[in-house]
Amino acid sequence: MLFKVIGCLFVILSFSACASKTSIDIKQQVALQKEATSIIQQFANTLKPQLKQALQHGGPAYAIETCSKAAPLLTTQLSKQTGWSIKRVSLKARNHHTAIPNSWEKSILQQFNRDQADGKSPSTMQASRIENGTYQFMKAQSVTPVCLLCHGENLKPDVVAALKKYYPQDQARYYKLGQIRGAFSLTKQL
Ligand code: HEC
Repeated sequence: MLFKVIGCLFVILSFSACASKTSIDIKQQVALQKEATSIIQQFANTLKPQLKQALQHGGPAYAIETCSKAAPLLTTQLSKQTGWSIKRVSLKARNHHTAIPNSWEKSILQQFNRDQADGKSPSTMQASRIENGTYQFMKAQSVTPVCLLCHGENLKPDVVAALKKYYPQDQARYYKLGQIRGAFSLTKQL
């Protein structure tokens, strides 16, 4: 009898462990959001100085080469360190291996664009959902003056040449100040 009860309990426990989580309480949600935001901050705090240094050292065309190595490397390192899957996505991708949004990400990016056109501040734009036992979080990234060197309308010829070399499928140009360039998209298994 006891074995039967224990066996049954085991079945119930393993079933609930396997069933994917569909909801979490608000406290958990706030904690996850904080964690995701701090990873995004860490990404920016690491990449921006590297980009700045490369820009000062060799100009934007040189910095594109630096960025083409540093950005994917940093994403992999941070993912390993934190256990979160980390992506940067865009409706107009530069890196077509990493930055193409899935359907949820696409709909959120479209919403960010509509909000930006309505005058909402990009720094407040974020979204989250729970899907297939994962928590997913997105945060908008907008265009500031420095971004225009590599994502703007009037790119220098050597920048155009570097983009052609490293990103032949590049779509991430012709942006104007304040527009939404893309978003961070982070996922954690619950
Ligand atoms: C020196 C040129 C340069 C500057 C300046 C620059 N970027 Fe980029 N950006 C790149 C390159 C190169 C990539 C592709 C990196 C990769 O392969 O992951 C990229 C990729 C991105 C992506 C990932 C999505 C995609 O399309 O691949 C986002 C988001 C992004 N940049 C936002 C910005 C923002 C916001 C700024 C200004 C704060 C900025 N970038 C400034 C060169 C630049």
